[in-house]
Amino acid sequence: MNSQHIEAVVFDLDGVITDTAHYHYLAWKQLADELGIPFDESFNENLKGVSRVDSLKLILAHGNQSDAYTDSEIEDLASQKNEFYKQLIQQLTPEDILPGIKELIEEIRSESIPVGLASVSKNAKTVLHALEIEHLFDYCADAAKIKQSKPDPEIFLTECEALGADPKHSIGVEDAKVGVQSIQASSMFAVGVGSYLDQADLMVNDTTELSWKQIKRAYLHQ
Ligand code: BG6
Ligand code: MG
Repeated sequence: MNSQHIEAVVFDLDGVITDTAHYHYLAWKQLADELGIPFDESFNENLKGVSRVDSLKLILAHGNQSDAYTDSEIEDLASQKNEFYKQLIQQLTPEDILPGIKELIEEIRSESIPVGLASVSKNAKTVLHALEIEHLFDYCADAAKIKQSKPDPEIFLTECEALGADPKHSIGVEDAKVGVQSIQASSMFAVGVGSYLDQADLMVNDTTELSWKQIKRAYLHQ
C-alpha cells in the first residue's frame, strides 16, 4: 500500500449527486419574493451548503430585515421554505441523478473503497430514496446531529471516522465554496464541481467531467 492510498470518498448531495441545489434556489426565491427581498442565482451561491436557518438569516440580512422577525417567526419562515422545497422534490426520480455520478460511485465501490454522504440537508434521506441510491453509501451523516455548519470540518470528519478512514487519505466532492473549505479543513483532498471553486485541489465544470481515473491521478500528484 503506498502512502497515498485512498481510504474513503465522501460526497455532498445537493448539486453534486442531483440538481436539488436548483430546487433549494427556487424555494428560497419563492419565500424571498413573499418577503420583498431581492434574490437571484448569484446571491444564492452564498447559500449553497449552508443550513436551512442560517440560509434564511443570510437572506434576511441581505434584505436589511435581520431584526424584523422573532426566533419563532424565523422557524416558521424556514418551515415555509421547506414546504415549498418538499413540493419540488416530490417529482424526483432516478432519472435526476446527475450524469456520470452513479457510475463513478459504483467504480469507487468496485475497488472496495467506502463511500459516504456529507449533506447538511434534513431532506437527504428522502432525496436518496427518491433517487434509489441509498445502497451505494456506506454511511450518511445525520444532519440533525451535526453541530457546526460547513465550512467547519465536523461533517467530513464525522464521515471519515464512521467509515474508518484517515481524512488525510480521503477525498471529498462538493459544489459549494463552504463545502470545499470544510473538506480542506478536514485535511481531505477536495474535488470541486461547478463554478467559483478555484481553491479546490481538483476542479471540474460539471459531473460529466468527473472521472475516477482523473481524480486518482490528481490525488496521487498533489
Ligand atoms: C444543503 C444545501 O445541502 O442543505 C443548502 O446546499 C440547504 O442549500 C441545506 O439549505 C439544508 O437543507 P434542508 O433540506 O435541511 O433545508
Ligand atoms: Mg451542495
